[in-house]
Order: sequence, then C-alpha cells, then structure tokens
Amino acid sequence: MALTMHRLATLLVLLSWTLPTMASFHFNLTTVPGYFLQDDPDTDPDAFNYVSSNFGLINRTYDTDTDLDTKNTTQWQRFAYHLHHLNQESHHKTPNVTYRLLFLGRHGEGFHNAAEEKYGTKLWDCYWSLQNGDSNLTWFDAHLTTAGIKQAQVANGAWEKQIERKVPFPQSFYVSPLHRCLATAEITFKGLNATPVPFRPVVKELLRETIGIHTCDKRSPASNITASYPEYILEKGFANGTDPLWEPDARESNSMRDVRLRDLLYDIFEHDENTVLSLTAHSGAIASILNVVGHQEFALATGAMIPVLVRVEKVAGPKPEMKVDPPIGVPSCGE
Ligand SMILES: *[C@@H]1O[C@H](CO)[C@@H](O)[C@H](O)[C@H]1NC(C)=O
Ligand SMILES: *[C@@H]1O[C@H](CO)[C@@H](O)[C@H](O)[C@H]1NC(C)=O
Ligand SMILES: *[C@@H]1O[C@H](CO)[C@@H](O)[C@H](O)[C@H]1NC(C)=O
Ligand SMILES: *[C@@H]1O[C@H](CO)[C@@H](O)[C@H](O)[C@H]1NC(C)=O
Ligand SMILES: *[C@@H]1O[C@H](CO)[C@@H](O)[C@H](O)[C@H]1NC(C)=O
Ligand SMILES: *[C@@H]1O[C@H](CO)[C@@H](O)[C@H](O)[C@H]1NC(C)=O
Ligand SMILES: *[C@@H]1O[C@H](CO)[C@@H](O)[C@H](O)[C@H]1NC(C)=O
Repeated sequence: MALTMHRLATLLVLLSWTLPTMASFHFNLTTVPGYFLQDDPDTDPDAFNYVSSNFGLINRTYDTDTDLDTKNTTQWQRFAYHLHHLNQESHHKTPNVTYRLLFLGRHGEGFHNAAEEKYGTKLWDCYWSLQNGDSNLTWFDAHLTTAGIKQAQVANGAWEKQIERKVPFPQSFYVSPLHRCLATAEITFKGLNATPVPFRPVVKELLRETIGIHTCDKRSPASNITASYPEYILEKGFANGTDPLWEPDARESNSMRDVRLRDLLYDIFEHDENTVLSLTAHSGAIASILNVVGHQEFALATGAMIPVLVRVEKVAGPKPEMKVDPPIGVPSCGE
C-alpha cells in the first residue's frame, strides 16, 4: 500500500506537470450560493429533477437586471449578464478573482451500476467488482446500458430546451477517460446547435472515478480511447499504454480523491480562462468536486447534472495541506 500511495503520488505530480513544482500560488475555491436550488439546504437531492427545474436555476432578480430590458429576457439571459458583470467588476477591482460556472454531469447507467444492483453492494465490493464481468454482463471500463444511453438522451433533450431558454452554453468540455463518460458526453452534447462541430472535449485523467480494485474504474489504453473517439483530445501528458494509476488491491480513499479533484480544478482554472465549463464525470468524482468548492453534498442519479457557481481566487503561497487517509483494501466477503 505504501508503494501504491507512492506510485499514485508520483503520477499525480507527473500529470500536474503544468503546475510549478514549488507552486507559488493556489486557488481559494468557494461556492457562491443563491443562484441554484441545489446549494439550498432545503432542497432534497433525492426528489430533485434537474430536467424539469431549468437545471435548478432560481427564479429571481439580480441587481444587474436594471441594465436590461427585462420584459423580454429569460432568467438565463439575466443570469448570464449578471455573471458577465461579476467577472468584469472583479477584473477591475480584484483581478485575482474569477467566477466560473461549472456544469457537472454524471454518466448514464453503466453495466457496473446494473451489476451492483444485481448482486448488492456488499458482494459487489468484496467480490464482483474485482471481476471483469459475469456470464451475462461485462463491466471492465464499464460501458453504458440501454437505460444509460436513454438517460444521456434525456440530458441532450434537457440541454436543447435550456438552449432555447438561452442557457450560457459551455465554452469548454472536459471528460473522464472512462468509456461511460466518453459516451455520455457525446450523446449529451454532440449535435446540439450550440455545440461546436466537431465536438472535441478534452479527456482529463484526473477527472476519473475512484481509482483501484473495481475493474469498472480501470481505463482502457489511450489507443482505444482515440480509436473510439477520434475527435476527442487527450490532454497533454496523458499516459500511453494501459492504465498507469489503477491497482488491483488498493482503492483510493475519499480524501485522496478530494486532493486529486482539487488538483484537477487548479489545473483547469490555471489554464482555461473560459467562464462556462462542462465536466462529464462520476458520482465519486463529482462528490469530491462539490466538497473542495465548499458546496453541500448533493448526490446525483445516473445521467443527472448539477450547475455550480464557483468563486476562484488566486492566492499567493503553496497549496494548502489536506488530510489524506490511506488507500483501502478489498473488504472481506465473510460475516
Ligand atoms: C476564501 O474565499 C472566501 C470567500 O471570499 C473567504 O471568505 C475566505 O476567507 C478565503 N479563504 C482564504 C484562506 O483566503
Ligand atoms: C418566475 O417569476 C416570474 C415573474 O417574476 C413569474 O411570472 C413566474 O411564474 C415564475 N416562475 C416560477 C416557476 O416560479
Ligand atoms: C423578444 O425577443 C425576441 C427575440 O429574442 C423577438 O423575436 C421578439 O419580437 C421580442 N418581443 C418583444 C415584445 O420585444
Ligand atoms: C444470465 O441470464 C440468463 C437469462 O436471462 C439467466 O437465466 C442467468 O441466471 C443469468 N446469469 C447470471 C450469472 O446472471
Ligand atoms: C475499446 O475497448 C472496448 C472494451 O472495453 C472494446 O469493446 C472496443 O471494441 C475497443 N474499441 C476500439 C476501437 O478498439
Ligand atoms: C504517446 O504516444 C504518442 C504517439 O506515439 C506520442 O506522440 C506521445 O508523446 C506519447 N505520450 C506520452 C505521454 O508518452
Ligand atoms: C494575485 O496573485 C499573485 C500571484 O500570481 C500574487 O502575487 C498576488 O499577491 C495576488 N494578489 C492578491 C491581491 O492576492
């Protein structure tokens, strides 16, 4: 396990090659509440429907509305103007602060989700998740089930509707390297009239699900990703060959995953000046992102999406230390 931790740490350093090794700055990330229902403690994640609620956009006024002819503008248009204004104002007054709108999408149902349901979480974690599949299902680097494809199509329809309502559309697209996310991003965004042609999301190693033990979270070689999605862009430094991070006997702890997703956000905020960013990922990865931007917990169903407005402040000094628990071994199937 010590070796595993070391190997993971080394790879994370390699992957974050673009961050200075003696980082002379970092980012203070905070969720800006009051714009989306999902950051309201009174919203019940289990009952919440992102499709029928304009993605959760709160119906409200903004102090910047007075600049607009509000009689003929949508809520999204007024929100987009407000966001633009927040960034313009901070550009002048606090140049180290930007406001970013993240759309965090979870992949549709994969064969691993179906298998966990079939066997129950206990047997899944102690035995079946270690296998590549059973006699009926394959869940190595799990692909989408028919239901998962439908969920991504629902997301596509939801985006189409919100585009009509003038949602600020993502300017950058990031995707986990696991097949269920590569497919979900394509089904969700490709072909929408706001999506650039060709659709070229950037595949980010660090955006993947909790690493280790579960074969569904082991990624395919870069050559397979490129052959399957020729238009997708592998980020610079993306490892060739087989998965360099996955270990058969050690699974990342939640706190290790938090650090990884924080570093992913640091990388994105350092190198991408766009305001509206789409990230297609996983329940665990999204839980970590929400945690490191100070958002309340908000579990997403397969195929669901959550918008988060994040205040990103560039601060001098090294990255803050985070408490990290060791990786976890395979649980016993015994009583
Ligand atoms: C981070 O930003 C928040 C929001 O502006 C602020 O309240 C907090 O003090 C900042 N934290 C640090 C460590 O700078
Ligand atoms: C949103 O607000 C507008 C006017 O402020 C109102 O007409 C409309 O019914 C509201 N919609 C919802 C879903 O509350
Ligand atoms: C509202 O804006 C739409 C275009 O976005 C335009 O077609 C329509 O005529 C406008 N209506 C009014 C009352 O200004
Ligand atoms: C595979 O599917 C068949 C037919 O649906 C079923 O009878 C069998 O029990 C399944 N096997 C497993 C391991 O799920
Ligand atoms: C990629 O790997 C999957 C197995 O995970 C396989 O089904 C698929 O055919 C491969 N695609 C290409 C283009 O090699
Ligand atoms: C992966 O292989 C490609 C083509 O062979 C090469 O251009 C690239 O530099 C390699 N990437 C790494 C990280 O080794
Ligand atoms: C802005 O960031 C730079 C590092 O890039 C830092 O030197 C400076 O102190 C920061 N300014 C403020 C006001 O925090």
